[in-house]
Amino acid sequence: MAQKQKVQKVQFVETVLRDANQSLIATRLPYSKFEDILPTMDKAGYYACECWGGATFDVCLRYLHEDPWERLRKIRAKMPNTKLQMLLRGQNVLGYAHYPDDFVKKFVQKAVENGIDIIRIFDALNDTQNMKVAMEATIKAGALASAAISYTTSPVHTLQKYVEMVKELKAMGAATICIKDMAGIMGPKEAYDLVSAIKDAVDLPVDLHTHSTTGLAFMTYLKAVEAGVDIIDTAISPFSGGTSQPATETLAYALRQLGYRVDLDDKCLKDIADYFKPIRDDYVKDGTLMPKSMATDTQCLTYQVPGGMLSNLLSQLKMMNALDRFDEALVETPKVRKDLGYPPLVTPTSQMVGVQAVRNVLDGQRYKTVSKEIKAYCRGEYGRTPAPIDPAVQKQILGDEQPLTGRYADTLEPVFEKTKQELKGIARCDEDVLSYIAFPQLAEKFFQERKEKEENEVTYTIEAM
Ligand code: CO
Repeated sequence: MAQKQKVQKVQFVETVLRDANQSLIATRLPYSKFEDILPTMDKAGYYACECWGGATFDVCLRYLHEDPWERLRKIRAKMPNTKLQMLLRGQNVLGYAHYPDDFVKKFVQKAVENGIDIIRIFDALNDTQNMKVAMEATIKAGALASAAISYTTSPVHTLQKYVEMVKELKAMGAATICIKDMAGIMGPKEAYDLVSAIKDAVDLPVDLHTHSTTGLAFMTYLKAVEAGVDIIDTAISPFSGGTSQPATETLAYALRQLGYRVDLDDKCLKDIADYFKPIRDDYVKDGTLMPKSMATDTQCLTYQVPGGMLSNLLSQLKMMNALDRFDEALVETPKVRKDLGYPPLVTPTSQMVGVQAVRNVLDGQRYKTVSKEIKAYCRGEYGRTPAPIDPAVQKQILGDEQPLTGRYADTLEPVFEKTKQELKGIARCDEDVLSYIAFPQLAEKFFQERKEKEENEVTYTIEAM
């Protein structure tokens, strides 16, 4: 008797609260605007809801006058049945600087205590040494480590290299493997080949994360599913497309039609879409959501440079009155990337490479002027590069200075207890101390505002009585 074939199940991570919010409207969605839909989202059947980390933390403090920790606790309370996911930049946590291990550990522990179930951990250079402490802390805190590879293409980023990395991540305790295509450059064939290679190599659920920027995303997800991908990242339709993720409902529809099992509740999805539609329209009206962000941009397929980087190059040249040098800067960009050992072009390396390419062109001499970030990169402070940095370039930039041989974070002094002492009387809890270490000026301002607000409330209550 023929064995009954098991129906392949595809699960969804909903990104509306984090990546879609960040990609389309610069993370400006305040808690009050999505609070009422959380109970419905909790019933939709998502594998997880990505709702914290990335830029959410910074923007809460900087623009929204919200305590990011409190936001997390409130989401947790309204979504008791759905896994909450956050994005964490390895040793950089939520910023671009390297932090000492004690901060990374404490931050992860507190994120989990406040409601996070899954921490997606990545490193811009794919240096697993920069992911190790965060992964260990995640596992210790009882959460799932979704270990991500930052996807890029280069002569050294072979399937074999990615598979080696994935095996290492599995040995480090990864619960799932995420392929993080932050620039939306992955095509359907690349997705099929990479997912197949990873599924062959390790017995772990694989999640694919991409963006609709180039218009490839739907095709890319479909081929990834054919190759056995377990989880895909999508956004509810009003916040989908363009620089965001492809639409949740569309993929659910197409995948079911093709015979895959999708356990999402269509009625919930409709209610969630209806809820977010007028919110999206408000952001279109006030100019926060720009038509450019919703458009399909295929330029980066031609130049092999992420879309955001092209607009950065343009604005840099414009500022220097040198727009006529754009073509030269475009030709120089991949050369700089090669010299630097093919870093994935993702924040912050994309900015660093772009700025250097412009400098090289405008100076008429390569690496005559170098930013302090590029210098730190050449010293090894960002981690191990995918390929060695060109020795001649490294020598030119560092002079007699010797690059680091170990892990940069090992050279950093612990910071948490010291800062906690310094903030006596200002910080009310460990979470406050963590906010302060991550964003000192923003946190200080926030603590002050919080105090004033409470004092006003007290006065108001007394008057009302
Ligand atoms: Co993303």
